[in-house]
Amino acid sequence: MRPERHHRADDTETTALELNPGGEIPSEIDETGGEHGERLIDYDAELRLHYQRLRQAYEIRRTDRVLDIGCGTGQTTCDAARSAPAGSAHGVDSSALMIQRARHLSSLQGLINVTYQHADAETCRFPMEPFDIAISRFGTMFFADPVAAFANIGRALRPAARLVMMVWQAHEQNEWSTSIEHALVGTTAPPRETPGLFSLADPTSVNRILNSAGFSEANFTEVNEPVFYGQDVAAALDFVNRFQSTKDMLQRLEPASAEAATERLRQTLAAHQTREGVWLDSRSWIITAQRQ
Ligand SMILES: C[S@@+](CC[C@H](N)C(=O)[O-])C[C@H]1O[C@@H](n2cnc3c(N)ncnc32)[C@H](O)[C@@H]1O
Repeated sequence: MRPERHHRADDTETTALELNPGGEIPSEIDETGGEHGERLIDYDAELRLHYQRLRQAYEIRRTDRVLDIGCGTGQTTCDAARSAPAGSAHGVDSSALMIQRARHLSSLQGLINVTYQHADAETCRFPMEPFDIAISRFGTMFFADPVAAFANIGRALRPAARLVMMVWQAHEQNEWSTSIEHALVGTTAPPRETPGLFSLADPTSVNRILNSAGFSEANFTEVNEPVFYGQDVAAALDFVNRFQSTKDMLQRLEPASAEAATERLRQTLAAHQTREGVWLDSRSWIITAQRQ
């Protein structure tokens, strides 16, 4: 369900869809998989509308062996396993904390066709090759050498296997990023701390990367859906305050300036409050390609 329009106290009509949003992982599970704490965020709730579109694009078959790159806490891996009851799903993530959590959550669901691997997908050797399809929800944007990484993933796939991944479009296309940046530091320039977040935003460059890595027929489908930051402004502020980039930006400021920036951020989030919670508009790509 998309958020409804609402009226602010000043009666200015606003909607998350017009204001644009996006998503970022708080520092406890930062964008590159850092492990800074215990608390796990509800990334699945944040990305629900994007994920619905991604799942439709997978077209996973009953017998498929699925490789999930940057699987995080494993929701996507578990869902893939359920879509392939006569096949399997294998999640790989470079964060030990994520993999630990994914294993725990999978066992609670009683899934027997799911496995996990704590490894760097850029360089590791994947077990159970060859896979029929590689999937990823925002887990392929952080490679140091993307051509090497996608070539490595390609080696784990059978010929003509599909790659289906979701990545963010550019910073400027994602008001969750521009509005937070603007509230905190008064600029809409791309955040310096999160270069990987938008690294696969440009179709021309991604085409080049995938071709060099042995994939063909790259196709880009835009997904323009809001992301969910919390049921109310307090929850959304807590969510955004746990982003590593938010912490970094606030740390650079004097205490009084940091307080003022936090208040601006609170007002920004309040402007995105709807009856269904705080939603910020965002744009991602679903990228599909075929291993040659
Ligand atoms: C934005 S999160 C997405 C997590 C998961 N796909 C989801 O949608 O819930 C990105 C994930 O990619 C993982 N990651 C980053 N670089 C990686 C690499 N080189 N190899 C494997 N995983 C990586 C991070 O640890 C993190 O869990």
